Amino acid sequence: MKKATKVLALILAMAMMACTLVACGSSADTTAADANTETAADTETEAADTEAAETEDAEEAAPAEGGTITFGTNAEFPPFEFVTANGVIGEFDGIDMAIAKQIAEENGMTAAIENMEFDSLLVALQNGQIDAVIAGMTITEERAEAVDFSMPYYTATQVMIVKEDSDIASAADMADKKICVIQGYTGEVCVNDMGYPYESFKKGTEAVMELVNGKCDVVVIDSATAAKYVSDNEGLKIVEDPDAFESEEYAIAVQKGNTELLDMINKAIEAKLADGTISELAVQYTEAASEE
Ligand code: ARG
Repeated sequence: MKKATKVLALILAMAMMACTLVACGSSADTTAADANTETAADTETEAADTEAAETEDAEEAAPAEGGTITFGTNAEFPPFEFVTANGVIGEFDGIDMAIAKQIAEENGMTAAIENMEFDSLLVALQNGQIDAVIAGMTITEERAEAVDFSMPYYTATQVMIVKEDSDIASAADMADKKICVIQGYTGEVCVNDMGYPYESFKKGTEAVMELVNGKCDVVVIDSATAAKYVSDNEGLKIVEDPDAFESEEYAIAVQKGNTELLDMINKAIEAKLADGTISELAVQYTEAASEE
């Protein structure tokens, strides 16, 4: 009997370890697919746990008809958010911007965008400077401690952008190479976890310019954004390594305890996933990118 209890406890402990949220995996982690399904479920429970405690001190007003939802973003992340002459919200365009606009308008509200550094988004959200963050932001355990995430609306992964003639074929090949990442992105976390030295840049375009100019050998960044940079610049290619980089899920963040806004956002995302709106937007903005 005692033994059985011990075994059970061990199994439980192992299951909990497997549930830990990770943005990128080393070979020691569970398979990407497993970790991925557990990631979303785990975030929800975690959010639900803290919600009860936090609801009382959430002071922001409930989203109201005729009001404005101010979304924070970092418009340096095509095809999700970028600056252009005629965007869907002022000068801002992309998959996320279209989603933000629809969420607001379907609820009789207006979407406003505050563009800032990616690193500043969660602090601005916590300070109440913005109501929500929509920025191709990956759900991670660390971030979920600070804010509440919506249900995921997009699945991505980190990839490596290299020169066409590069001999980098896997993440391990980066060991003796000059690696560029973007400050505060999950790609930086991944490379850091792998223990490789790297240089970080404020914008994806800056890192890609380093690569184009031969000053670095590889840029680690999210898949869809990488595809856009490769189509914009001659002589680059994408190298994938699913064993080294797990899949990541993008979600919208709100202040902890802001259940009313979160519910509104979740309902909208659920409907847009079900009726194909989000996949249509993804196709539309990826095609637009490759036509340029
Ligand atoms: N998915 C990555 C992360 O959450 C990169 C997001 C970058 N987004 C942006 N709008 N610049 O860290």
